[in-house]
Amino acid sequence: MAKNFDLMEDSNRSSNPNIHEVSDPARRTLLRGGLSASVVGLLAPLAGCATSSGTSSATSPSNPGGPLLGFKSVPVSTADTITVPEGYSVQTIAAWGDSVGLSGETAAFKFDASNSAAEQETQLGMHHDGIHFFKHPLMPQSSNAGLLVMNHEYADDGLLHTDGMVTWNAGKVRKAQAAHGVSVIEIEKKGERWDIVRPSPWARRITASTPMAVSGPAAGHALMRTAADPTGQRVLGTLNNCGSGITPWGTYLSCEENFVFYFKGPERPTAHQARWGMRTGDPVGYRWHEHDERFDASKHPQEFNRFGWVVEIDPSDASAMPVKRTALGRAAHEGATVATARDGRAVIYMGEDARFEYITKFVSRDRIKPGGAKSNRELLDHGTLYAARFDADGTGRWLPLVHGQGFLTAAGGFADQGEVLVKARQASDALGATMMDRPEWIDIDKEGWVYCTLTNNSNRGPANYNTDAANPRENNTMGNIIRWKDRADFDGTRFDWNHFVLAGDPANERADAKGNIKGDAFACPDGLWTDARGVLWIQTDMSTSAMGRGDLARLGNNAMLAADPRTGDVRRFLTGPKGCEITGATATPDGRTMFINIQHPGESPSERSDPGAPRRISNWPDQRADGRPRSATVVIRKNDGGAIGT
Ligand code: FEO
Ligand code: CA
Ligand code: CA
Repeated sequence: MAKNFDLMEDSNRSSNPNIHEVSDPARRTLLRGGLSASVVGLLAPLAGCATSSGTSSATSPSNPGGPLLGFKSVPVSTADTITVPEGYSVQTIAAWGDSVGLSGETAAFKFDASNSAAEQETQLGMHHDGIHFFKHPLMPQSSNAGLLVMNHEYADDGLLHTDGMVTWNAGKVRKAQAAHGVSVIEIEKKGERWDIVRPSPWARRITASTPMAVSGPAAGHALMRTAADPTGQRVLGTLNNCGSGITPWGTYLSCEENFVFYFKGPERPTAHQARWGMRTGDPVGYRWHEHDERFDASKHPQEFNRFGWVVEIDPSDASAMPVKRTALGRAAHEGATVATARDGRAVIYMGEDARFEYITKFVSRDRIKPGGAKSNRELLDHGTLYAARFDADGTGRWLPLVHGQGFLTAAGGFADQGEVLVKARQASDALGATMMDRPEWIDIDKEGWVYCTLTNNSNRGPANYNTDAANPRENNTMGNIIRWKDRADFDGTRFDWNHFVLAGDPANERADAKGNIKGDAFACPDGLWTDARGVLWIQTDMSTSAMGRGDLARLGNNAMLAADPRTGDVRRFLTGPKGCEITGATATPDGRTMFINIQHPGESPSERSDPGAPRRISNWPDQRADGRPRSATVVIRKNDGGAIGT
């Protein structure tokens, strides 16, 4: 998600002192000036990319299995189309408004956006994001059939309704809510083309109104109870589903990111509401509260505590209720990436995409059981949540967010573990975790290095929070990819870290915007995915307000690049249409079909389309005279049938 939201992502800090600032002035002083020498010391060896700390996997023999990247990179593009390397083909499926294949429904997409809310509930939502290919429940060996599960992060009301927001009513709010959430579709390959299977018993729409359970230590907590749900254990819907993850037991993790922007704040937000960015009025202008009062925080102050969670969904059972897993902590969650420790416990890495927020990990108490989702129903309800502290010497610590330890006591403002989890930001503040430059997606290479995109943070600097070793650039317009390796195993509490790459464009005059990429230039890394061969796929999200200008002037539209984690080589593989971001990546088990999402093609710098000119910026993918741009899934195949990236 881009500009308008970015602008708001840090003002909660600049305008509202947080617990950390109040309770630990010494750390604030250190952040504002005390680290500069060590920053310089750690940055210097990074110039060689990927070999900085001596603990790096990049010191392993180069290309022991032959070259990972076999394609010729594509140039920067500003065209309203997808570009892929020679020898590759693309197909578009599952665009916003296409039927997901529920039984008995037939509503086709109407290109004038006149579909009703009820019809939208049967169609793919807007603004596709995280995605995963699940094996087909009846054909688990197949790479020609499966289930695609994907997030729909948010809606552009200028595009969603025929007259945009010129008129506003309850039906439009319901349609916007129906355009959010998650879709499950069954897909199959016939010949060289993929299509949605309709109807399908697995087809499903989960929206901002779908009932879901709450589990873990914050379930039923006083902070989670509302007039409509005095139990604090039943929430309607999921919001702003951004990145995603999968579990070894076959479930999908959908992550709620910028949920706060759906709520109209009270006249005087509480310190807790303010720390999460809530303010008076309706800053983003979704206007849901005008016809659905649970989004009016002055009337229902706890409702916003019921969002910001990781939601577990079982795609193999369309009747299974989604579950908000509170043990994983509340955050403006980007994604959730699961590793398995050697003893069989689940470890989940998560980033919070907001300026100066945190990277966390959850270590389950219990071991993963054989038997799939039904055997592991409570696995994510018990365990330990940690926040990351990146120290200037290239080591780091996972700080436990456990009630009763350190500052996380009643005297420190946390009554119990439920409150620690609902207020995970404040808890991380209190422990002195490292404030990062907007952590986005996370993935893990074959040697156990965990990579996280830090997309950008133009507010990094003395006016807010100074650079530190992990976030080394002021006015960080370009972003970087940091990585760490937990000592001993994924569940370890100490780690070693370095920067895999500082993104940038060597043609920039500003030294801090040049980066140290070994290969094709890019900026604002967001999506990140390691495929079965070990290729690290990097997807960019330069905001439409910044794209094509300043430090981003020569980088064209957003793109997807492939990196070799062993060598640091980076090649541009795909460029997207105008005004889009590229996000989400997955593949069939044979690695021969890749699926990615194109989000918000045609987005205007204001992030709300002009309903009178929906095709002004982009008309992708349909390119119809009466059409409008639609987020969609892109299927990528190699013409010779080989693995993607070879
Ligand atoms: Fe939804 Fe951080 O991107
Ligand atoms: Ca982003
Ligand atoms: Ca993202």
